[in-house]
Amino acid sequence: MKKRILAGMRAVARPHLGNYLGAGKGMVQLQERAEYETFYMVADLHTLTTPYDKDYLAGLTKDVVMDYLAMGLDPEKSVLFVQSHVPQHTELAYLLSTVTTVAKMSHLPTYKEKIKEYPQHSTMALLNYPVLMAADILIYKAEKVPVGVDQEPHLEIAREIARRMNADYGTDFPEPKMFGTKGAYVPSLLGEGKMSKSVGGSYIALTDDLQMISAKLAKAPTDAGGPGEVPITGPVANLFKFLELFLPNRLEYYGEAYRQGKLRYAELKEELARAIYGEIRPIQERREQFKSKSEMVDEIIHEGARKAKEAAGKTLQEVKEKMGLLV
Ligand code: TYM
Repeated sequence: MKKRILAGMRAVARPHLGNYLGAGKGMVQLQERAEYETFYMVADLHTLTTPYDKDYLAGLTKDVVMDYLAMGLDPEKSVLFVQSHVPQHTELAYLLSTVTTVAKMSHLPTYKEKIKEYPQHSTMALLNYPVLMAADILIYKAEKVPVGVDQEPHLEIAREIARRMNADYGTDFPEPKMFGTKGAYVPSLLGEGKMSKSVGGSYIALTDDLQMISAKLAKAPTDAGGPGEVPITGPVANLFKFLELFLPNRLEYYGEAYRQGKLRYAELKEELARAIYGEIRPIQERREQFKSKSEMVDEIIHEGARKAKEAAGKTLQEVKEKMGLLV
């Protein structure tokens, strides 16, 4: 039997460069390998754990599916679906929550960050976020999960839940591992933290044109440009991280310029903007084609749900039996 892969993105906004490099690229890579069966969803239920606009959610969910297609995901090779269309995920999440303590969930850094950001939204759904994510993965018995490093604490929870279920009920869940790409951590343009949908100015959208990318990079903080060693943290280190990702053959040149105190950030940023645009332009071109193919996309989503339900239903049935429910 083929090994399984599962990944997803929330529908809080259209995916940005960090989502593409950290997750999207890995999703595409794994889809191309014959030894894997790949399941990729839009995590619309996870989107409900922080404030969202109900008038836009459905449209945004479909947009993310179209962005997946534009990134190179192929419905002939991957099962592309919407999380809420496969109710087995939430059902398994409930079963998994019986082996998960409240203390463990409430001490997770990702949970603490979110309640700091949205103090009015410390909900049960938010507390349960990692359990639903564990269910997303375990319901396909996925072994690898292409995600950015920020999701590692959630994968650790999924592994703990898998171990506990296997020990207590004799299930055979594999312990899912992160599949990281070299862009597993894409920094913010603002000089601090990671590129994030919820921080305006921190990200490059996959829809940005060259002018927009240049304008955003122009605002990225810098320093005097040397002389000295290239900083290993902070805004300048972030710009060098972008060089590493997009212009690895220019790292030495700019590193040397910095050491000699001759680095011209305008030159670096312009070159970087062109390289980034070069990488995302093909995605934008493909995305254009799907705009007029709304019905085809609906069909892909429908077919994806059918295939995902079939696989998910089997695991759920097994787990119910093992947990002693009357089936
Ligand atoms: P989300 O929507 O926040 O992010 C989608 C993916 O993008 C990655 N990512 C980044 N990677 C590198 N650098 C960055 N700056 C950056 N920002 C975001 C994230 O790591 C993620 O892989 N919990 C998930 C959604 C989810 C999921 C799952 C993922 C729900 N169930 C099951 C995998 C498996 C999330 O919030 O993604």
